[in-house]
Amino acid sequence: MSETVQVIIDKKTYELPVVEGSENEKAIDISKLRAQTGYITLDTGYKNTGATTSGITFLDGEKGILRYRGYPIEQLAEKADFLEVAYLLIYGELPSKNEYSDFKNNITNHTLIHEDMRVFLEAYPTKAHPMGILAASLSTISTFYPEAQNPNRPKEAIDLTIHRLLAKVPTLAAWAYKNAVGQPVVYPKNKYDYCENFVNMMFSLPAYEYSPDPVVVNALNKLLILHADHEQNCSASTVRIVGSSQANLYASVSSGVSALWGPLHGGANQAVIEMLEKIMNDGGGLMKWINKAKDKQDPFRLMGFGHRVYKNFDPRAKIIKKAADDVLNKMGIVDPVLEIAKELEEVALNDDYFKSRGLYPNVDFYSGIIYRALDIPTEMFTVMFALGRLPGWIAQWKEMSEENQPIGRPRQVYTGAKERDYLDINKR
Ligand code: CMC
Repeated sequence: MSETVQVIIDKKTYELPVVEGSENEKAIDISKLRAQTGYITLDTGYKNTGATTSGITFLDGEKGILRYRGYPIEQLAEKADFLEVAYLLIYGELPSKNEYSDFKNNITNHTLIHEDMRVFLEAYPTKAHPMGILAASLSTISTFYPEAQNPNRPKEAIDLTIHRLLAKVPTLAAWAYKNAVGQPVVYPKNKYDYCENFVNMMFSLPAYEYSPDPVVVNALNKLLILHADHEQNCSASTVRIVGSSQANLYASVSSGVSALWGPLHGGANQAVIEMLEKIMNDGGGLMKWINKAKDKQDPFRLMGFGHRVYKNFDPRAKIIKKAADDVLNKMGIVDPVLEIAKELEEVALNDDYFKSRGLYPNVDFYSGIIYRALDIPTEMFTVMFALGRLPGWIAQWKEMSEENQPIGRPRQVYTGAKERDYLDINKR
């Protein structure tokens, strides 16, 4: 007999089914709770609420495990290519040689952006944050493909949108950067592979000969893989909930970019570097900042520390810390910020406040140090995260829509005023 749990309300017992995942994770299925009992559950921030079943990413926060479609993140980061991982996340299996080459060709064929988009990009103020430009451009680009707004399109048409998104987001991201630094945009070149092309669009200039440095390209490939999916995080949940209204894929992904922008999510990589620079320039010593982070009256938090699900270590942070060392060594860069980061980690990991709360460096603690070494400006860090997370958002959207999941619509417990009569403005 399948497992159930009992809930007793007003002395009446209700049996609720238990759902078990393939890694033995258990959930109490409360989908009929309100109909049967009149009660709902309350879980601000969804700390204990499963919003869906999903076959895309498995993570175990206690053991520090992260797997995409069953493959350990360590193996993928070491051996795979970003487009292979994108295919794996979106279609469920690693591609065969032919599938990979078709996928890559399809993406390469769509890297150009409609010239009319240039008008929009040029209209942004030069100080515009590239995340704002990316989110807006993704919504705008949907207007060039009105057919994508039909929720009942055939599979081939959805694949075309997926290829277009994967192809055009690097171009949009690089152009947002070029706009911010007042340089002419660089068009995509199909002779380059995915990461090379992005690096070329970011750094080449008409006045110079330029070819992408393989150290930079390989580091980028690894970082994008590490960011490619992370199950039901804030931005993926946003993409799913926006998509559940049958909003088109461009609009859904644009909402993911906006959700990622915040400093508690993807914006943390920018916040980490800004914090480390502040600590370095302040010269007041690390303990001052550790104490500020521990002080509940002080809003300061150690950025890049802590995670909603990882309470022992973030496996991505382990890989990135080593990659940061490798990249800096290979490029012959000595970055004092890396030293501050290592010291801060050491002090925090030996401090009871951080130990007792399971606060460890997360993926963003070291990623910014690599981006700095690659010459990527601080404001672009979260855009880099978005580039990496794109296949994850697409996979989450695709799974949600293929399963015909209902529109996302949480309930609430109302705590406002009871019914009262309208008062004329002169009597208030
Ligand atoms: N510095 C100091 N104290 C912290 C920190 C921190 N970075 N993070 C959590 N705490 C404390 C918090 O004050 C609370 O203490 P107490 O129990 O005494 O009230 C306890 O630890 C639990 O924190 P929480 O805010 O309830 O935990 P959460 O799961 O809601 O938040 C988090 C997770 C990532 C938003 C949070 O740890 C944080 O703000 N970290 C800094 C921002 C950051 O690095 N974000 C990137 C996350 S990784 C990239 C991604 O996947 O998005």
